[in-house]
Amino acid sequence: MSTLTALLQLRAATVEDAPRLARLAEQVGGSWNVARYTGSLAGSGAGWLLEAASPASSLPDPLAALLRPAVAAAVVVQPAADDWELLDLAVAPPCQRQGLARTLLAAVVAAAGASGATRLLLEVRAGNARAHAVYAAAGFVRIACRRAYYPATRSAAAEDAIVMALAL
Ligand SMILES: CC(C)(COP(=O)(O)OP(=O)(O)OC[C@H]1O[C@@H](n2cnc3c(N)ncnc32)[C@H](O)[C@@H]1OP(=O)(O)O)[C@@H](O)C(=O)NCCC(=O)NCCS
Repeated sequence: MSTLTALLQLRAATVEDAPRLARLAEQVGGSWNVARYTGSLAGSGAGWLLEAASPASSLPDPLAALLRPAVAAAVVVQPAADDWELLDLAVAPPCQRQGLARTLLAAVVAAAGASGATRLLLEVRAGNARAHAVYAAAGFVRIACRRAYYPATRSAAAEDAIVMALAL
């Protein structure tokens, strides 16, 4: 366990966390916004986050909610009977490369396994080398390529999606 991981607490994300999750997504250039986190966590999605153990936790809501520390890392998944899908994974830049993604993936694997799921699936941009390295290190293997899955934008060409799977 890294020094940073030891200072953080892992807990399930709730719909109230959506604004802080969106701020984290902004920091890493992610595409998820408050509405998307809210829709997922208020619906059938599930998430986990890592944050500093808060001294404000003894305060009454909404004060405690206001004083909550920033989210260091978060993951959102779509559970299903057999295949769980990993939808979003982000680690704040100052906290990267200290094992936080590995910790979150382990939490997802444990929850999916406990629920009886047999596989964890995800899509990742072909050019996202860091994410590929994290998923490969966690045991995911490439099972498919979706050509030009991410549409072209004004500044970037269309990009393939690599589908990866982890047998549970
Ligand atoms: C991808 C991302 C989630 C990785 O988070 P992280 O907390 O830095 O990853 P970890 O420290 O848990 O890395 C776990 C392992 O993955 C591999 N890895 C992680 N970052 C790597 C890098 N930059 N280069 C090579 N390998 C890397 C290593 O094997 C690492 O283990 P090690 O440090 O003991 O060698 C983070 O960089 C991020 O938020 N990026 C922007 C958002 C994103 O791309 N999300 C994924 C979308 S599918």
